[in-house]
Formats: sequence, structure tokens, C-alpha cells
Amino acid sequence: MKIIMLGAPGAGKGTQAKKIADQYQIPHISTGDIFRANIREKTPLGMEAKSYMDKGELVPDELTVKILLDRVSNEDCKNGYVLDGYPRTIPQAEVLDRAVGELNERIDFAVNVDVPDENIIKRMSGRRACTKCGDTYHIEYMPPKKENVCDKCGSPLIIRDDDKPETVKNRLSVYHEQTAPLIDYYEKKGILKTVDGTKDVNEVFADIKNILES
Ligand code: AP5
Ligand code: MG
Ligand code: ZN
Repeated sequence: MKIIMLGAPGAGKGTQAKKIADQYQIPHISTGDIFRANIREKTPLGMEAKSYMDKGELVPDELTVKILLDRVSNEDCKNGYVLDGYPRTIPQAEVLDRAVGELNERIDFAVNVDVPDENIIKRMSGRRACTKCGDTYHIEYMPPKKENVCDKCGSPLIIRDDDKPETVKNRLSVYHEQTAPLIDYYEKKGILKTVDGTKDVNEVFADIKNILES
């Protein structure tokens, strides 16, 4: 099963993608996580990506597309995957369609996690991310067992550099301009499924499971 997660920054794409990956035993592929891992390791790719990410801009397609195509050609992707944060532009979607088409396969679902802008700022300010494994929490909605410590690996939690309110506002406007058109794109292909992302994490997941299993 090949699944794409769509939705504004902070809509809960990552949260739900992890649950899908666990449930269906397919890899969770987040271009944002790949970039952040490169930033932590101070690779040239990480340094270049950081200059865009810190401003809330998109990393250029040329760079992003290459990383994604590399990743989905891995052996562990042969039974499918859940993409989180890719595609973010129409050209990125077209590249993915072509790559999948060449294997005589197709994307099964584009799940749009719908959350209005008003809710987003609050979610982002409460988000905490692990400095080591990238796992994500929310101080109010998904608190770690021990304050500021990752449940999974025990490393400290921090506020992501791009979660400052000014940057979040820019990420939202970039989303509406460049990424939201993908909703129409996948609607026309007949694979768009929208869920109400303002519900509680487990309710959203139950709705997604219903869609994937119907
Ligand atoms: P990326 O890492 O993809 O960030 P994003 O799209 O801005 O989304 P987030 O990760 O911020 O939010 P999310 O939807 O995953 O929400 P989460 O589950 O964490 O990209 C970062 C940057 O990298 C981009 O700005 C860009 O520069 C670059 N980039 C990445 N991919 C790219 C691409 N393809 N092309 C170009 N550039 C690219 O949830 C948010 C918070 O809310 C958490 O604290 C969570 O605990 C909480 N929460 C989740 N669900 C719920 C719920 N139902 N109720 C209450 N709280 C909830
Ligand atoms: Mg995410
Ligand atoms: Zn961790």
C-alpha cells in the first residue's frame, strides 16, 4: 500500500504516518525528518536544506526529488510506504507519479489531514521534538512520560527551530500557495480522502484506518 499524507504544517501528518507505518508494517518516509537528520549530522545537504527550512521556505525541488526517489527505491519499500511531507509541489507529485508508473504501480491513497490555520499555531507552540531520534510530542495533547525527555530513546526534547510563531506563519502561507493545490490534483485522480484533523489523535487514526480498509 502506497499512501501520501497531505495537510498543513502541524496538521498531524507525522503523528498519523507513524501510526500507519506501525499498523501496516510499511516504512514511514518524511522528507522533513531526512533533512533534519542531515542537519544534525552537518552534511552538505543538511546545511543547504537548513537555509530554507529556518525561513519556513520549501527546499528546492531538484534537491528534494532526488532524495525521495533514492529513498523509495530501497528494498524495504517494495510492499509500499507512507510518505509524510512529500509531495509539496505539483512538480514533486508529477515526478513521483512517473517513478511509480514506471514500476506499473500507483499511489493508493492521498490522505488529507484537515486542520484550520487557527488551530495550527497553538499546536506548534506546544510541540517538542527529540534531539536524537526526532520523535514528536505535545506538552498538552501528547506529553512524554517524563517532562522534556524522549519516551523512545531518553534524549532531551527541544522546540524545533522552525516552530517559532513568525516562521510558522510563513510555513502556512507557503503551504496555501504551493502545497494546497495538491488537494485538487489528487481529487482529480480519485484517490483523495479527507479526515478531520481537529479530532483527538486516536479518533483521527480510526478514521484513517476505516478509509484504508474500506
Ligand atoms: P516537515 O518536517 O514536513 O514539516 P511540516 O509539513 O511543516 O509539518 P510538521 O512536521 O510541522 O507537522 P506534522 O503535520 O507532521 O504534524 P505533527 O504530527 O508533528 O517539513 C519541514 C520543512 O522541511 C519544510 O518547511 C521545508 O522547508 C522542508 N521540506 C520537507 N519536505 C519538503 C518537500 N517535500 N519539499 C520541499 N521542502 C520540504 O503534529 C504537530 C503537533 O501537534 C505535535 O506536537 C503533535 O503532538 C500534535 N498533534 C498531532 N495530532 C494532533 C491531534 N489530533 N490533536 C492534538 N494535537 C495533535
Ligand atoms: Mg512532521
Ligand atoms: Zn528520541
